[in-house]
Amino acid sequence: MLAVGAVLAASFPAQAEDKASDAEKAVEYRKGVFTAMGYNIKPMAAMMKGKIAWDSEEFAMRAQRIADLADMPWEGFQEGTSNIAHSHALDAVWEDTDKFRKLREDLVEQSAELAEVAQGGDRKAVAPAFKKVGKTCKSCHDDFKEED
Ligand code: HEC
Repeated sequence: MLAVGAVLAASFPAQAEDKASDAEKAVEYRKGVFTAMGYNIKPMAAMMKGKIAWDSEEFAMRAQRIADLADMPWEGFQEGTSNIAHSHALDAVWEDTDKFRKLREDLVEQSAELAEVAQGGDRKAVAPAFKKVGKTCKSCHDDFKEED
């Protein structure tokens, strides 16, 4: 009996730690997905601006990756994950939920459109769809993300 009591007592602080680390893991997860989006969009932007050579296959591959990632970060924004160390998410994420949801949906829709037109391989045809996606990234960051 004594041994069981000791085990139970010892497990309480461990549970509290697990909770904290679940929130931290959610933050790391959403940031990881965004980092992957940023990593892929950077060379796409450089191609659009003519800073690096246009490569339609690479552009289409990266557009598809962003479309695949677009639905993923949101799972990491559960309750209790604001004000976690290393997060730049503003409280607005949990307050202005309608606007946040709308921008999420815009990203999912627009990145799928971009991935589709990118299949065609034409830089000019891709430009408007790419601009839309970039604008949605920026709009959301303006309202929901702290400056780095
Ligand atoms: C619906 C809102 C929303 C959209 C759309 C959005 N982001 Fe973000 N993004 C955020 C928030 C909120 C954070 C801060 C997350 C945190 O620090 O917890 C963030 C963080 C980031 C980061 C920093 C990650 C880090 O490690 O700190 C990058 C890079 C990023 N986003 C890229 C993008 C790109 C590229 C797009 C468009 C393809 C995009 N985001 C679209 C809300 C959004």
